[in-house]
Amino acid sequence: MATRTLTGITPSGTLHVGNYFGAMRPAIAAQDLGECYYFIADYHSLTTVFDPAERRANTLGIALDWLACGLDPARSVFWRQSDVPEVCELTWLLGTLTPMGLLERAHSYKDKTAKGIAPNFGLFAYPVLMAADILLYDTTVVPVGKDQKQHLEMTRDIAIKFNQTYGETFVVPEPSIAEEVAVIPGLDGQKMSKSYGNTLEIFGEEKKLRKKIMSIVMDSRSREEPKPDADQLPASQLLKFFAPADVYEDIMNQLRAGGYGYGDLKKALFEHYWEFYREARERRTELSANLDHVESVLKDGAAKAHAVARDVIDRARRNCGIA
Ligand code: ADP
Ligand code: TRP
Repeated sequence: MATRTLTGITPSGTLHVGNYFGAMRPAIAAQDLGECYYFIADYHSLTTVFDPAERRANTLGIALDWLACGLDPARSVFWRQSDVPEVCELTWLLGTLTPMGLLERAHSYKDKTAKGIAPNFGLFAYPVLMAADILLYDTTVVPVGKDQKQHLEMTRDIAIKFNQTYGETFVVPEPSIAEEVAVIPGLDGQKMSKSYGNTLEIFGEEKKLRKKIMSIVMDSRSREEPKPDADQLPASQLLKFFAPADVYEDIMNQLRAGGYGYGDLKKALFEHYWEFYREARERRTELSANLDHVESVLKDGAAKAHAVARDVIDRARRNCGIA
């Protein structure tokens, strides 16, 4: 069977550089390797976001971000999850075979409720909807971060149970957990994450982003002092992702030698970061001026996704005896 890679992107905020290197860049590179199915998980966002305008804005923002960064609709199927509502029907079929104990053990549910998010049925059933996302498209591979590993195991368990109960119906997917993807540090050196408020956005207003970088807190060493730990500084670790290798090495050598200050480093970081996303930024501006085009990309993607989904849901209905 050909490789079919699928992943969902939750529209829950503005994307940052950690999302770019950890999730977007590998997904975009996968377009050269086989079939790719990428969707905006707006049904999932219903479990935690309760403002319709915010959901619409996030969904559009994510579509623009991904298209600007290189998602190619000629090579990938890209759609909005809710445009293929069969996923909700499949959630029900799968939910009736999902043991309560399995859901009660879900880390993400426990983490979210521990953080004070009021639990609702949707939040509890989240892994079943995610299993439906994956199984509805005969997916073979799901690239995910470690935090989603348990959800993938649940998907496999649910698929196997359905196949055992009702006969061969679903492809049992494999996770692809990228161990080697670096954890991108945030502006404070911890993992970059929107929950830590230490993010550098991929797109945004120049002045604001420059200020964000120039405000990175450093130690008190003067410009003249040699800095033997140059490459350990969070600003240097970020610079490494954006600057050409020789430029990066040159800056590290100057920091180590002394006579190169933190202001110089932050200025270099801003400039290389800004340059790195120049083309994507221009593409995003063009796309923002042509939202009909973006909408038609998502609609075309939904039509392609729907054709696959219809086959699979018909198979599932037939096998479990409701059609
Ligand atoms: P956040 O931590 O900001 O809430 P998400 O959990 O929404 O980010 O992340 C979406 C995807 O982006 C994750 O599956 C992960 O692969 C990637 N990602 C997020 N932050 C980082 C990071 N700091 N380094 C590498 N990858 C990251
Ligand atoms: N739960 C995933 C996350 O929070 C998003 C997601 C929804 C997903 N459905 C999916 C990922 C299906 C992979 C496959 O990042």
